[in-house]
Amino acid sequence: MNTHLQEHIVWRFKREFDTDPILVKAPGRINLIGEHTDYNEGFVFPAAIDRCIIAAVQKSKSDICCAIADDANEQFNFSLHEIRPFAKGTWKNYIVGVVAELQKIGANITPFNLVFAGDIPIGAGLSSSAALENSLVFALNALFNLKLSRKEMIFVSQNAEHNYAKVRCGIMDMYASMFAKENSALFLDCRTLESTDYELDLGDYQLVLINTNVKHQLSESAYNHRRLLCEKAAVLMNKPALRDAHEEDLKKINAELSAADYQKILYVIQENRRVKEAVQSIVEKDLIGLGKLMYKTHYGLQKQYKVSCEELDYLVNQCKQTKEVIGARMMGGGFGGCTLNIVAKPALKSFSEKIAIDYKNRFNSACSIYSVELSGGTHLLS
Ligand code: GLA
Repeated sequence: MNTHLQEHIVWRFKREFDTDPILVKAPGRINLIGEHTDYNEGFVFPAAIDRCIIAAVQKSKSDICCAIADDANEQFNFSLHEIRPFAKGTWKNYIVGVVAELQKIGANITPFNLVFAGDIPIGAGLSSSAALENSLVFALNALFNLKLSRKEMIFVSQNAEHNYAKVRCGIMDMYASMFAKENSALFLDCRTLESTDYELDLGDYQLVLINTNVKHQLSESAYNHRRLLCEKAAVLMNKPALRDAHEEDLKKINAELSAADYQKILYVIQENRRVKEAVQSIVEKDLIGLGKLMYKTHYGLQKQYKVSCEELDYLVNQCKQTKEVIGARMMGGGFGGCTLNIVAKPALKSFSEKIAIDYKNRFNSACSIYSVELSGGTHLLS
């Protein structure tokens, strides 16, 4: 699929700009476990997937930049001297966000042309936006010989998200899309930004995503709100971040939090612990153990952190009743998007068929089901 995508983008770029581009491929990501822990300086366990964005760039001969979103068939032109955020919800913010953040750190860039396209479902919690930002910053780094390290580039991507897309996201998405290794998941310490690769040998099991194809309103404000609450709780406990907090610390500030907020903070503390347990399960090749931890995480996201939704809960409940699915949970920020599932390979077809029908009957709309493989991080395509 990616070869076709690559050829198509080169074709489109040449048609529009009559020159050869530099090409960069940046993958989307999944997260085995460790949800809403990254912005608490905690632990996550993501991996890049075989769905990506490919960006093609080249210097422009005019004094205007031209960016083309091939999938949406939309184009916009902008001057490097007049960069400003757009209203929420447009891909243009990712482009101008990356450019603005590069300008902020003094990168010397001149007008360029860009065409991008991809096969990461949008709004599915697979970090298509991080992939777009990474693909662009990586491509501009190569085009203008900026000599930025991969770490510097992921901060450009993250700041574009904060200041232009207006989501105060953590570093997990950009990190995974930038640094991932094939067939491996990354155990990442979001404070030190040190990571360890763990090869994922799933044997007779397959990672499967089920996309609810819903994205409920307010997911971004709810996300920013959760983050603020976590920061406030850390201050109350006199800790640099929730990563440093234990249940004992939380008990001491019980009176200062509502019961609902107490559960949210408890979830984060417990989830950090589960990530380390999940690493141990992988080391011991205990997939059943990993699956159980995933179900526990879903419970926490649903009942404690309260970022799930009816569609996600329905899918996870169906999986719980299917013995061939050893782990399932909602993934990413929440309020829609995908569940991540570990499914026995022989049952893959029957499972997919059944869940598609059940979901349609329940919600009168279709879910989408994809098997995923783990891929390497952002890189130049020759
Ligand atoms: C979104 C954010 C990430 C992370 C997850 C939740 O994907 O972009 O930084 O916080 O939600 O784990």
